[in-house]
Amino acid sequence: MNDDLQKRIQDAMANPQNMGELANADAIGTVGNSDCGEMLRMWVKFKQQDGRKVIDRATFQSFGCETAIAVASLATELIRGKTAEEALSLKTEELAGELGPLPPMKIHCAQLVEGALRSALSPQAETCAKPVEATKPTGNSSAPTLLDSFSKPKEGGVKITFLE
Ligand code: FES
Repeated sequence: MNDDLQKRIQDAMANPQNMGELANADAIGTVGNSDCGEMLRMWVKFKQQDGRKVIDRATFQSFGCETAIAVASLATELIRGKTAEEALSLKTEELAGELGPLPPMKIHCAQLVEGALRSALSPQAETCAKPVEATKPTGNSSAPTLLDSFSKPKEGGVKITFLE
């Protein structure tokens, strides 16, 4: 990784945005990557604005590398005010925003974020990072944390599908 990219990642990591669970989220998406053990969950809440249903707020939790966290931080800011369709139309490199082009070995970090976003907004969509679970909240105000998902599996177990 070049020094410029490392610096931009460090800048994003110095003040990461939108980390943590989001109570009363309208959609939740989780993906995992067995190559490096990364997991990322994204919560999305919508609002009505000018007759459109747009993303009011998105947050994330991640077990993972700095690049995935930096991309998730930027992406959750980028999708604010967009409809689900507009957010889903963003390409992996667009989600990485001001980090700029990622080296080949770091592209999957951004794909992890993209996968969580697609899992949340379009659970049936094909994604690079396969969803661990596509969860629609039940109105319960205490959404589970990413760690909760693994330490307290739901009755009947949690289906985890890893990347090839
Ligand atoms: Fe695997 Fe970043 S190194 S997600």
